[in-house]
Amino acid sequence: MRDIFLRACKGEKTTPVPVWFMRQAGRYLPQYQKIRGKADFLTMCKTPELAAEVTLQPVDILGVDAAILFSDILIPLEAMGAGLSFVEGKGPVINPPLRSLADLKGLRPIEPEEDVPFVLKTIKILRRELSGRVPLIGFAGAPFTMATYLIEGGTTKSFVNVKRMLFSSPSLFRSVLDIITKVTISYLSAQIKAGVQAVQLFDTWAGVLTRHDFRDAALIYSKRIFDALKKMGVPMIYFVYDGGHLLDLIRLSGADVIGLDWRTDILAALKSLGNDVVVQGNLDPCLMFLEDERLRERIARIIEQGLSAKAHIFNLGHGVLPEVPPERVRLAIDMVHELSS
Ligand code: CP3
Repeated sequence: MRDIFLRACKGEKTTPVPVWFMRQAGRYLPQYQKIRGKADFLTMCKTPELAAEVTLQPVDILGVDAAILFSDILIPLEAMGAGLSFVEGKGPVINPPLRSLADLKGLRPIEPEEDVPFVLKTIKILRRELSGRVPLIGFAGAPFTMATYLIEGGTTKSFVNVKRMLFSSPSLFRSVLDIITKVTISYLSAQIKAGVQAVQLFDTWAGVLTRHDFRDAALIYSKRIFDALKKMGVPMIYFVYDGGHLLDLIRLSGADVIGLDWRTDILAALKSLGNDVVVQGNLDPCLMFLEDERLRERIARIIEQGLSAKAHIFNLGHGVLPEVPPERVRLAIDMVHELSS
């Protein structure tokens, strides 16, 4: 197997540097669109053959060094009893949103084998299909980010409902985070037992918090998940989007790898993290539109900075944009390999 991704996760400086991209399976790929034209997104997530097929597309087409399970962070919320849909042009919707103790009582813990069997089946198909190629990454949303979707009922710009609950009903908010944390531990354990070889916890919205509130409402729950999974022995990645002001706290999470968005240079991030850390990132997804030479310079700079960390996994600072031509993505991956060899 091409194992540079797993070796880098464990702290080895590899040649070349491994590369995979968040949202590497998705709408920018015509091969994805073809399947998506026949099935809606949730149906794709729940049909193991389709989910496995689109997971493999970037491995076959782009030459990435890891596959990431095709699913969504919100899938377990539906299994917990929340009403989940994806609305064309709008994104995810949770209806009704969680606003009270009575709403919380409507949520239940999950038994992954019974409640999300399709995820585990997809993983099993993928391990078979990937054998001898690249490792498979599993994932979940971090508790604060999941709570944001539950309480806001979808994507938000103001975070007024989730922050209002955090500040005005702290014990209710803690109960919401507790149940999500419990579910996430059993969900990720089941993914690992089914065969994923690394896991990433996505904390997309925790960056809206002050340091004090991040510690209280995000970090301790994410840390609880990493502490519980540590004994399973697979590398764990923590990605907090827009978390530049939180890096020294993120370092305390217990994750093996720290994901960085593009706002903080790797060298600046290492000042907060210390150099004895594995980092993942962090090309601005919009730089993929640059002409070849400028793109090469930007990629070279990130690889150069990554040398100061214990090890480096190349990635974008957030997901691949739907507007990016697939040839650009392929070119960027080739450049990472070439420039780090
Ligand atoms: O990265 C991968 O290739 C693996 C699959 C994956 C998806 N979503 C597929 C997806 C992963 C790891 C996610 C994580 C996810 N989902 C996050 C955390 C990462 C981040 O982006 O910050 C979040 C916040 C979500 C919630 C979500 N799912 C939103 C806000 C949206 C709508 C926005 C959009 O891009 O359409 C989704 C839908 C979604 N998740 C799509 C895909 C491929 C698009 C579905 C489609 O219309 O075909």
